[in-house]
Amino acid sequence: MSLYPLIRPLAFALDAERAHRATIGVLKLIPATLPPKFPDSLRSTVAGLEFPSPIGLAAGFDKNAEVPEQMLSLGFGFVEVGTLTPRAQEGNPKPRLFRLREDRAVINRLGFNNEGQAIAFQRVLGCRHVHGIVGVNIGANKDSADRIADYVEGVRAMSPVARYLTINISSPNTPGLRQLQDEGALRALLSAVEEARDPKGPPIFLKVAPDLGAGEPDQIVRIAIQHKMDAIIVANTTVSRPLLKSRFRKEAGGLSGEPLKPLALKALREFRAASGGEIPLIGVGGIANADDAWERIRAGASLVQLYSAMVYRGPGIARRIARGLAKRLAREGFANVAEAVGTE
Ligand SMILES: Cc1cc2nc3c(=O)[nH]c(=O)nc-3n(C[C@H](O)[C@H](O)[C@H](O)COP(=O)(O)O)c2cc1C
Repeated sequence: MSLYPLIRPLAFALDAERAHRATIGVLKLIPATLPPKFPDSLRSTVAGLEFPSPIGLAAGFDKNAEVPEQMLSLGFGFVEVGTLTPRAQEGNPKPRLFRLREDRAVINRLGFNNEGQAIAFQRVLGCRHVHGIVGVNIGANKDSADRIADYVEGVRAMSPVARYLTINISSPNTPGLRQLQDEGALRALLSAVEEARDPKGPPIFLKVAPDLGAGEPDQIVRIAIQHKMDAIIVANTTVSRPLLKSRFRKEAGGLSGEPLKPLALKALREFRAASGGEIPLIGVGGIANADDAWERIRAGASLVQLYSAMVYRGPGIARRIARGLAKRLAREGFANVAEAVGTE
């Protein structure tokens, strides 16, 4: 039985950022070594890594790598910590995190508040890696004079402890960051990353925004493959505002959760069409149940991630989706996840 329906009113009585801090505090008390049992059909190899389940925790929940193994114990097959910048930074003034309850959505303009890569390095180093995969999402400091240098620094600093790295150029809350998705800037960034990475180091993923123009997915796929990226994560939060009910709907920042779902799915389909399966894709944005995960896999995602749905449905969500997905695979006659990827 899930305790979350009992705990949720307490969490929702606090302002969103306090509730998040309290949640991390409680999670620290969970033993980090309970290995969840996943059906064999959920196991897959992506970018050379063995994932016990394709359901991952998206970046931003555990920015400072405080509870990655606890989240694995709760039933995520992989956990992406970060975004971590080379130096610690405060992020934007509060309030900067809003729950749009009527819309099952979140708006955040946190702005990469984090304790910096050195502290997170020690924490990830301490992970026992008994089950599941801990990836590290890296970004640039807001006041950095040379953003590309920050990513290069992140690749060098975090490679020794990360099972994979994510280059995040898609957060809307660091002014100008998303311009690194433009053709010339992306080429410059990814060639610097390619040069900096250790050939024996972890695979590197690229995380993109859902708000791209026509032709941009093609361009990004081409440049990512040329520079040997190992996967593309589609997508980050949106700066667009579909119809929303909540009084927070006009808050600035990135929107995630249910209203992001159609946009993220559309973006994933565009990236699948552009890549034809040549580079693995990771689907994220508005995933809340096994049907959503299944739809994303059929649309071309080898793995999926979620964050906002956990705010509304509790941390048992990963286990529930994994169970539902295994049943769905069996019902549809697929032996494993890899067989179903891109079959829509
Ligand atoms: C509060 C919050 C903070 C986030 N912080 C980050 C971040 O630091 N880096 C990043 O790449 N994505 C971040 N994200 C985006 C998520 O990783 C994910 O791409 C997005 O929320 C869509 O998934 P969802 O609808 O399941 O939440 C954040 C999302 C939320 C809600």
